[in-house]
Amino acid sequence: MKVKISNKIGIAEILILPIIKNGHIHLNLSKNTKNQINNALQTKDFTGDEDETLMIYDENPSKRILLVGLGNKKDLNSLNYRQAGGNARNALKKIKAASVEIAMEQKYLWPFLEAFLLAGYKFNKYKTDIDKDKHNIQDIYILNESKDLKDLQQELEEITQNCQMMDYVRDMVNAPAEEMSPSELVAQAQKVANLSTNIKLKVLDQKKLKKLGLNAIYTVGKSGKSGSYLILLEYKYQTKNKNPYSFIGKGISFDTGGLHLKPRDNISDMHLDMAGAATVLGLFHKLALNKIPGYFLGVIATAENAIGPDAYHPNDIIKTYSGKTVEIKNTDAEGRLVLCDAISYSNKHYKPACIIDIATLTGAATVSVGDEITPFTSNNSDLTKKLLSAAKKTDDLFWQLPLEKFHIKATKGKNADLTNFTKHMPGQVIMGAAFLANFIADNTPWLHLDIASTSWQDRKILSYIPEGGTGVPLLTLIELVKKLG
Ligand code: BES
Ligand code: MN
Ligand code: ZN
Repeated sequence: MKVKISNKIGIAEILILPIIKNGHIHLNLSKNTKNQINNALQTKDFTGDEDETLMIYDENPSKRILLVGLGNKKDLNSLNYRQAGGNARNALKKIKAASVEIAMEQKYLWPFLEAFLLAGYKFNKYKTDIDKDKHNIQDIYILNESKDLKDLQQELEEITQNCQMMDYVRDMVNAPAEEMSPSELVAQAQKVANLSTNIKLKVLDQKKLKKLGLNAIYTVGKSGKSGSYLILLEYKYQTKNKNPYSFIGKGISFDTGGLHLKPRDNISDMHLDMAGAATVLGLFHKLALNKIPGYFLGVIATAENAIGPDAYHPNDIIKTYSGKTVEIKNTDAEGRLVLCDAISYSNKHYKPACIIDIATLTGAATVSVGDEITPFTSNNSDLTKKLLSAAKKTDDLFWQLPLEKFHIKATKGKNADLTNFTKHMPGQVIMGAAFLANFIADNTPWLHLDIASTSWQDRKILSYIPEGGTGVPLLTLIELVKKLG
């Protein structure tokens, strides 16, 4: 699929026309087309309201015109345009067309086009019965007469690439656990590293992890077929920075809950539990292709939380890589275990300038803020501001939760230094963060993103976010990386 610039209407099979409610159409359209649009407005078949679309038919210059509602002028913002972009794509899903052209104002082209591309995603790798002609747009033309063509061209390439990275993440998250195993995540990291001479890859396997004393990550994975791995992607380009910005992803290929087995209603989608790892891979794939200046470390802690003769037990005590001991009060709180060793390893060997962990850590993420918002905690207001300002561009939603000293104190164990689960503390998103806080080196700016809510959707709410793996919050992390650089 290609996005191109065009300076005249009529090149493509379908013209996409976003329209504000009661707004004027400035495009030079035929009289017949204008009449048809007026008829649609008069009959109120199409009014320009949010979430409306209507296909009309004409002879010249475009045979088909898709009207897309944007809502009231006073309410217009980037999210409206995103929603409209997704709606436009969804309206075309049952239609055979290899090319479309989009006529709209430049200001909101980015969110509209991004959503148009993102809404085109389908996980149909395993479908043998799909109609390949439908839902198969090859060429997208952006009508443009004014803007500096070079700038626009670059913007279009950037949008296209970002969306490809989103689809890369979605594919990995949607892939069955049997396919997206810890060793497959290693293979993906290798693939990403091979794309660029600016990336160095290091992989610690099960044997190495045990030998070096990364017992937390080792223990979680020891009942899984391929064991655990710690994957390190080190990217450096045009920078004097000595300390990397460290992005740490949770990569549990399947989370049965361990001996604290998950109930049947909660277990079936647990192949999604590597979404943090997939997001880190997507981010480094982007870095490999785009050469953003900076020093960035991608850390992936991957394992399968399986049940078997080697599975760890409730009340087992583990000595983590940091030296701190942890008693296992819930084998289903495995994410914080693999992450704590990843954080400590990153501290010791790379002395990161900041740590951003991305993890499907708690079901409580959804309980606290719903499925469209990522709850997070941070110890640093500057880093928080950067995250939120990056999110302004992408329309990803974040909500900061407090993390207090008493939360961290509540992670103290009875028979060991720490416990991975504090029964009497129900704020589980915060308690997950509180556990990890024990491993963050003093004063290192830190963001903890609990993406259990946003990285997966059970139903479609936003037009451009599919059911299943969503890719969120990769776009925001790409923007954040540009700000950190
Ligand atoms: N992977 C799960 C969290 C999860 C739940 C992600 C639903 C996506 C959707 C995590 O490992 C887990 O099991 N967390 C426990 C934590 C608890 C034992 C403190 C949870 O949320 O119940
Ligand atoms: Mn779990
Ligand atoms: Zn998990």
